[in-house]
Amino acid sequence: MRIFLTGGAGYIGSHTLLEVLSQDHEVCVFDDYSNSTPESLRRVETLTNRKFKTVEGSVLDPQCLTQALQEFKPDAVIHFAGKKAVGESVEKPLMYYENNVVGTLNLLRAMEAANCERIIFSSSATVYGDPQFLPITEDHPLGATNPYGQTKLMAEHILRDWAQSRPTASAVILRYFNPLGAHESGRIGEDPNDIPNNLMPYVAQVAVGRRDRLRVWGNDYDTPDGTGVRDYIHVVDLAKAHAAALGFGETHQGCETINIGTGRGYSVLDVVGAFELAAGRAIPYDIKPRRSGDIATCYADPAKAKRLLGWRAEHDLADMCASTWKWQSQNPDGYDS
Ligand code: WQD
Repeated sequence: MRIFLTGGAGYIGSHTLLEVLSQDHEVCVFDDYSNSTPESLRRVETLTNRKFKTVEGSVLDPQCLTQALQEFKPDAVIHFAGKKAVGESVEKPLMYYENNVVGTLNLLRAMEAANCERIIFSSSATVYGDPQFLPITEDHPLGATNPYGQTKLMAEHILRDWAQSRPTASAVILRYFNPLGAHESGRIGEDPNDIPNNLMPYVAQVAVGRRDRLRVWGNDYDTPDGTGVRDYIHVVDLAKAHAAALGFGETHQGCETINIGTGRGYSVLDVVGAFELAAGRAIPYDIKPRRSGDIATCYADPAKAKRLLGWRAEHDLADMCASTWKWQSQNPDGYDS
């Protein structure tokens, strides 16, 4: 298949790029490098020994997007491009609605101009809000608690209505839980622009000496050790889920929403302990007050992904920590190393 990847130079995008290239798809990456670098693409090319097209552009530039799609003529689009920091979305909601909602609208318009009717969308478990039951199934009530989550919900509604308006269109919405880890080579990985919001990149930067101590946001939750519990999913498993969704989308019409998680929750201190084992060094931390907007526990029921995609997670927390440490220790300053 011919695949068009928006945001393909990013953390999840580059790992998915590597996976679909390894499955002999033809790929065009469309990225503005606002939260990524072409270096990740150069490394994927080296790792796979495969060529692919790249276009530098923004999903907020309809003309550039339309031209890129009309020239490449993809069979399917995987849409990663977007803003993803919860805290930043609270400070800059309009930037998030513009990038994540208008950007998705622009992409669908450009796809229509290029006669492309298949899309896989990067959504997030954050659309469930504070879970009313666990594990979370796809029919769990929706309730985003921050602008970032709202943009994902709005984009999902747009995709659902778009798919229903076109009898042969396919939209597969993948709701990620918490992506972690890196490719086994240690050559590509998560490289946040500023101070990491997420747990694992922060822990990795403490381990490599870029940060002094981890701040644990609250240990008074109703969880086994009082710290937040999440469903951490290895980014390579997540990449494989996208490849599986491509195959599903070829013979599927309409809109399908699928959780991509392991079905198992780990606490902050579980992650810290596993990372210390993987890195062979202590991760100093301080218990701090809860972070506003955080929930206690969140983990997926991954049964639908198994049923529809024939997919399930294969990597455990130890793999996620070991691969993250390999990436971070080999690239102390990320792609700038
Ligand atoms: C995990 C746990 C924190 C940092 C968000 C988005 C989600 C997705 C992943 C984009 C929580 C604790 C964290 C730290 C800590 N993003 N923590 N110290 O908030 O579950 O999910 O990021 O797609 O959509 O909602 O992930 O990694 O920020 O937090 O104690 O320095 O680690 O309190 O319990 P989160 P996270």
